[in-house]
Amino acid sequence: MNAIELARAIPKAELHIHIEGSLEPELIFALAQRNGVPLAYPSVEALRAAYAFTDLQSFLDIYYAGASVLLKPQDFHDMAWAYFLRAKADNVVHTELFFDPQTHTARGVPMASVIEGLSGACKRAESELGISSALILCFLRHLSEEDAFATLEAALPYRGHFIGVGLDSSEVGHPPEKFERVFARCRELGLKLVAHAGEEGPPEYMWQAIDLLKVQRIDHGVAALQDPLLMAELAHTRMPLTVCPLSNVKLCVVKDLRDHPLKKMLDAGLCATVNSDDPAYFGGYMNANFEQTVQALDLSREDVVQLARNSVEASFVSEQRRSEMF
Ligand code: ADE
Ligand code: ZN
Repeated sequence: MNAIELARAIPKAELHIHIEGSLEPELIFALAQRNGVPLAYPSVEALRAAYAFTDLQSFLDIYYAGASVLLKPQDFHDMAWAYFLRAKADNVVHTELFFDPQTHTARGVPMASVIEGLSGACKRAESELGISSALILCFLRHLSEEDAFATLEAALPYRGHFIGVGLDSSEVGHPPEKFERVFARCRELGLKLVAHAGEEGPPEYMWQAIDLLKVQRIDHGVAALQDPLLMAELAHTRMPLTVCPLSNVKLCVVKDLRDHPLKKMLDAGLCATVNSDDPAYFGGYMNANFEQTVQALDLSREDVVQLARNSVEASFVSEQRRSEMF
């Protein structure tokens, strides 16, 4: 078995997937029709043709528009279920799903519809596919901290349905320090803490995520390569980085997959993992990310095993589930 075949077959955890980013154009059109929501594109093909991004913001504008078709618990369930079927095909055995409630509550969708729909799909994935999963509620960083506090308040009646909080959306100009107080509150509540940092933003945002937000994982973190002290800190603490190679190419964070720093991260002893981010928009789910990255960076079988091991180490599963997975 070569490294690519091994990458396909090995059991792995996905820790950086925005469930709204798994909405395929076909499902966007089906849900738009079911719910009577108008779309700005006349066809699936026209929508897909618009997926030519120049940076993070150019993607987010289309991603938020796509999410406007989600109204009912069944819609959230159907979106997540479609993702779980893809995950199963890629030998993903555990996944921690990000969701963006503010994208939905701002349109009048009740928090209950979002969480109950997603949570139902998670339970079904466990019983029908044997995939364990958990939900992570993300605050949109282009909105205010006050809005994040209100979102947390609205989600607390469903506290048993999510394990942690994250921070996503437009990074530059919205540093982690903007959310220090709401993350402190989440820490008091016993929630797990993660944040996007160092995707388009500087290494300073990664330091802030660590020192001010006290995150347990950093999402992306490719900017770390610009700061040798930060690299040493990440290696020393084994702070996990949920890296998304195809996303970084599509959003022009790196010019070419062959320039991606993933191999350098592994060689420096970082707990780097491979993830799909927004697979419906970036051209591939977990195995596409693994296959193309193995090929472009000439990763070895040992690198592949290390990446799968890292994904389990970086996950928030119980010790018992951890030993079942690897
Ligand atoms: N929301 C969905 N995908 C994202 C990404 N790659 N970066 C920041 N926010 C996001
Ligand atoms: Zn992301």
